Amino acid sequence: MTELVHTRKELAAARDGLTGTVGVVMTMGALHSGHETLLRAARERADHVIVTIFVNPLQFGPNEDFDRYPRTLDNDLEICRRAGADVVFAPAVSDMYPDGQPTVRVDPGRLGEGLEGHSRPGFFHGVLTVVLKLLHLTRPDLAFFGEKDYQQLTLVRRMVRDLDVPTEIVGVPTVREPDGLALSSRNRYLSVEERAAALSLSAALRAGVEAAEQGADAGEVLAAAHRAFDSGTPGARLDYLVLTDPDLEPDPLAGPARMLIAAWSGTTRLIDNAAIPLAPRS
Ligand code: PAF
Repeated sequence: MTELVHTRKELAAARDGLTGTVGVVMTMGALHSGHETLLRAARERADHVIVTIFVNPLQFGPNEDFDRYPRTLDNDLEICRRAGADVVFAPAVSDMYPDGQPTVRVDPGRLGEGLEGHSRPGFFHGVLTVVLKLLHLTRPDLAFFGEKDYQQLTLVRRMVRDLDVPTEIVGVPTVREPDGLALSSRNRYLSVEERAAALSLSAALRAGVEAAEQGADAGEVLAAAHRAFDSGTPGARLDYLVLTDPDLEPDPLAGPARMLIAAWSGTTRLIDNAAIPLAPRS
């Protein structure tokens, strides 16, 4: 049975009733099969699973989609039940931030300044602050995050290490539509034409992976990815396309690397990434 709780007090009581290992899956709702995969991964590793559903105002900029972000609690609960979640915590903003917006926030540091942090100032302060609060409130042994938000996953891992949070962070591979589009709650904003243009992101990553597998160096891999992006259905506007090392440090000139991309299709901003197997340095 899945128990729905809304307040910290209810959550604390539900959490106290869980014995054995606890896994948490943090979400902003609008759940899709990507979240189901996270839930299944949590189910496999932990005795109990808590899902949090909270559209966190702290991580939205003034011109972003906080107000129109899809809120689909009934459907989300159905998915959580199906996936065997024990507890769903769906707090109101006033429950998460009883004193209003917190004056103290987690500083993501240098790793949070580039990429998403550059395009969305304050985003990672908001994400890490709510993630840390939810880790305190749910007290999990394990927390599961999708690789689709790769910079977020990297920063959460870093925060847990730097701040001695006793939770193992587990990354779960991105789930894709058969044509390659990475699942995202924001995909539902896309018109048919915008969705076709959005395929340029995964096409760029695929081209990068293929080029690396054929022995291309970092420059050639990036060039192949750019070509694939540019030759997709017109309409997608590139924000960034970069190659980094797996920890998001620059200069991945050889060995395992990560390619990250962000682009707009219409007014929807999408992100995606892939592991790139550059040849080892000789
Ligand atoms: O990835 C998300 O959905 C959000 O950034 C998270 C981790 C739930 C924090 O609000």
